[in-house]
Amino acid sequence: MKNKVSIIGAGMTGSTTAHWLAEREIADIVLVDVVEGMPQGKALDLQEALPVIGKDALITGTNDYEATAGSDIVVITAGLPRKPGMSRDDLLFANADIVRKATEETIRRSPDAIYVVLTNPLDVMAYLTMKVAGVEPHRVVGQAGVLDSARMRTFVALELGVSVENVHCYVLGGHGDEMVPLTRVSNVAGIPLEDILPRERLDAIVERTRKGGGEIVSLLKTGSAYYAPAAAIAQMVEAILKNKHLVVPASAYLQGEYGLNDIFFGVPVQLGRRGVEKILEYKLSDSEREALEKSAAGVKENIAKLKL
Ligand code: NAI
Ligand code: 2OP
Repeated sequence: MKNKVSIIGAGMTGSTTAHWLAEREIADIVLVDVVEGMPQGKALDLQEALPVIGKDALITGTNDYEATAGSDIVVITAGLPRKPGMSRDDLLFANADIVRKATEETIRRSPDAIYVVLTNPLDVMAYLTMKVAGVEPHRVVGQAGVLDSARMRTFVALELGVSVENVHCYVLGGHGDEMVPLTRVSNVAGIPLEDILPRERLDAIVERTRKGGGEIVSLLKTGSAYYAPAAAIAQMVEAILKNKHLVVPASAYLQGEYGLNDIFFGVPVQLGRRGVEKILEYKLSDSEREALEKSAAGVKENIAKLKL
């Protein structure tokens, strides 16, 4: 039987995720959105592209959750962008309502699904999904670290003129300006970045990585990044469906790891058919630990506001 992936929210990231997944030919895809006609139109358009690229997958667009029944993976991208006059807290509560509904509607139709969450504020929404679904922590993972690390890899590869395949970067922490790019273990073909880049260039790359989401928003003006976030989700979905045991930075529920408890937070996780199979722990320096604690405090503060 074919795998089934339902994507809640057929906006920019949701529909682009469907695109990347269809190219991988690893699952039938259901796109759900509240806007009438839009998920149906995008699904049909994508379906009609598949003969051209020679891939077989069934793409369904709908406003009705019934079509999601029996999903192996549910991806949540539904949410609102921040509008003028809206505080971060307004966005937090508005998106919490949307993610809560998406989770309630999907978990009763797909009781065994693994959840991959994208909606912002990411770490808080992943926490909410786990609580509302009432599932074990390994069944929920948030996408942030693959994207943030890919941004850093891009900047390093461009700076040094080497292939992105030689650049390995690891960005941990919450998905916000306090994220923690680990320059000590990030490397080019095994050589630590700290040994290959002058301090001020490395600092500039760290800063650009932290502000990477904002850089795209200020260029696009009408939305946020979607190609790279969607590619990141597709990599995670593939790792889960193919049981690859792939280690990626992603937001997972911590129960003592890195000295943190009861929080979703960006750490290296091993992904396979169970979802989060393992959380890997770096030996951190004092300054890295301090930076992670600062980032965690911000995530905790927002989780507390939801009073779950
Ligand atoms: P978008 O506005 O293009 O799409 C969001 C879609 O959600 C819209 O089509 C909207 O109609 C739909 N929606 C709203 N309420 C819904 C509901 N109750 N049920 C189903 N669908 C609903 O936004 P985009 O660019 O796709 O971003 C989506 C979310 O992902 C945002 O919260 C954004 O901040 C976040 N994001 C997170 C990233 C990460 O790395 N964690 C990266 C990029 C985006
Ligand atoms: C990003 O980092 C908006 O969280 C999103 O691009």
